[in-house]
Amino acid sequence: MTSDLTPAPASVTIDVREDRLARVRALTDPGTFNELGSQARHAVHAFDMQRKRPAGDGVVTGTARIDRRPVALFAQDPTALGGSLGGMHAAKITRILDHAARARTPVVGLLDSGGARIQEGVAALDGYGEIFRRNVLMSGRTPQISVVLGACAGGAVYSPALTDIVIMQRDRAHMFVTGPRVVKAVTYEDVSLADLGGAEVHASASGVCHLVADDAQDALDLTRRVLSYLPSSCWDLPPTAPPADALPMPEVPTDHRVPYDVRGVIRGTVDADSFTELHARFAPNVVVGFARVQGQAVGVVANQPLVLAGCLDINASEKAARFVRMCDAFGLPLVTLVDVPGFLPGTGQEAGGIIRKGAKLLYAYAEATVPRVTVVLRKAFGGAYIVMNSKSLGADAAFSWPGAELAVMGAEGAVDVIYRRDIDADPERRPELVARYRAEAMAPHIPAERLSVDEVIAPGDTRSVVAATLTSLAGAVVPGFRHDNLPQ
Ligand code: HXC
Repeated sequence: MTSDLTPAPASVTIDVREDRLARVRALTDPGTFNELGSQARHAVHAFDMQRKRPAGDGVVTGTARIDRRPVALFAQDPTALGGSLGGMHAAKITRILDHAARARTPVVGLLDSGGARIQEGVAALDGYGEIFRRNVLMSGRTPQISVVLGACAGGAVYSPALTDIVIMQRDRAHMFVTGPRVVKAVTYEDVSLADLGGAEVHASASGVCHLVADDAQDALDLTRRVLSYLPSSCWDLPPTAPPADALPMPEVPTDHRVPYDVRGVIRGTVDADSFTELHARFAPNVVVGFARVQGQAVGVVANQPLVLAGCLDINASEKAARFVRMCDAFGLPLVTLVDVPGFLPGTGQEAGGIIRKGAKLLYAYAEATVPRVTVVLRKAFGGAYIVMNSKSLGADAAFSWPGAELAVMGAEGAVDVIYRRDIDADPERRPELVARYRAEAMAPHIPAERLSVDEVIAPGDTRSVVAATLTSLAGAVVPGFRHDNLPQ
């Protein structure tokens, strides 16, 4: 006599864990993976579920090492009940999250799940609640990396959204709150997986995805690379790497209206091959990414004159704000390269909440306690000057390149406000008034005279000055809990 919960005959047992185990082994140092809960199975009878009891309940969990540092992992198996999350599946994940929280190690999740297991009803939803609560309690304490390898829905996308970094596999990964079939049933809209939640959508439009991987192996390589910048927890220092020289500093056009790619300046400032850009195609008017300076991990934030002339807008503010908070949470010093004409003006931005969302970036910089160095490359105007890690906001040191202009606004806009009557009376005086404003309000020597910047430095000295400043501030990197990494 067998009970209802005896493992089902081979024809209906789903036990394909090898692929996920292979992924976990490919990600971790050889021979270090210790699985936990491999024999766990759900005990649900509803909907004939006793006939589908995959070993491990559709998720591989355990501990291992990556680059010799301990990590906790879970990997969902889409061939086992669609990787869906029932009570047992959730219990395995919450156990490994608790393990990581206690051991103060990063957590990597390899996600491929249809979300809450429909047959388990509210028990599945409660399982997600337990996971979300732990994601939040661990936020800013231990790094959490989500690697999305397949179609993820519902709770399987909200949990990644609570974590620090989301990596998606191009063409295979999809993320949506509800899948195409539910969309069709509710809105009659026919939409493909890719258009609803492909990596392209989330890397460029929604901003959910930080990094797009070409294939599964690339996703695992990116995971290792991201972890190489982050400490095991906020109570540890970030790992170091052998120092390397920077690439040569490129020529930057002195005409402030001529665009250039600020990533060249970043590469001329940080160790060669150390820069990993995040969110490269979401809000590309600001560039953020991890890098190293003399082997020490840093976070870099830079305005990008190639896009919207480098103006800050809603998406750029939120993107940079969360990055600054993440770096601060995990003790990464911040290097900020400034070339910003201002916040993007217009009704769309105002109605969309640029005041509220720009304030997030102000808040993030102002509260950051890690070492903070700023270099103004060509210009910094108005609120955008302040928000981009100005001295007044608490930068430890600020430098500018020769000729850099710091002002409330550009000359053309300024004279139309302060000389409006004169220009109305005699429009031909405008060029003269612009020249006067430039000379009196934007002269490059003014910021250094009044200590808005500490020194004016040659572009070719940027690397050495930033490196020396960070070295002088090494004692200011104090491990400890600062704050969470609230999703923006
Ligand atoms: C139970 C599920 C499931 C789920 C998929 N499966 N999702 N079983 N619960 N949530 C099962 C399918 O029945 C199928 O089983 C197998 O997994 C593969 O699914 P397919 O649909 O055949 O795969 P595919 O065509 O690749 O489509 C994948 C998918 C789709 C896009 C993820 O399955 C889908 O739309 N699922 C529902 C997604 C969803 O709306 N989830 C929201 C849950 S609510 P068989 O036996 O046929 O192989 C939620 C709320 C959390 O998560 C709280 C948020 C705040």
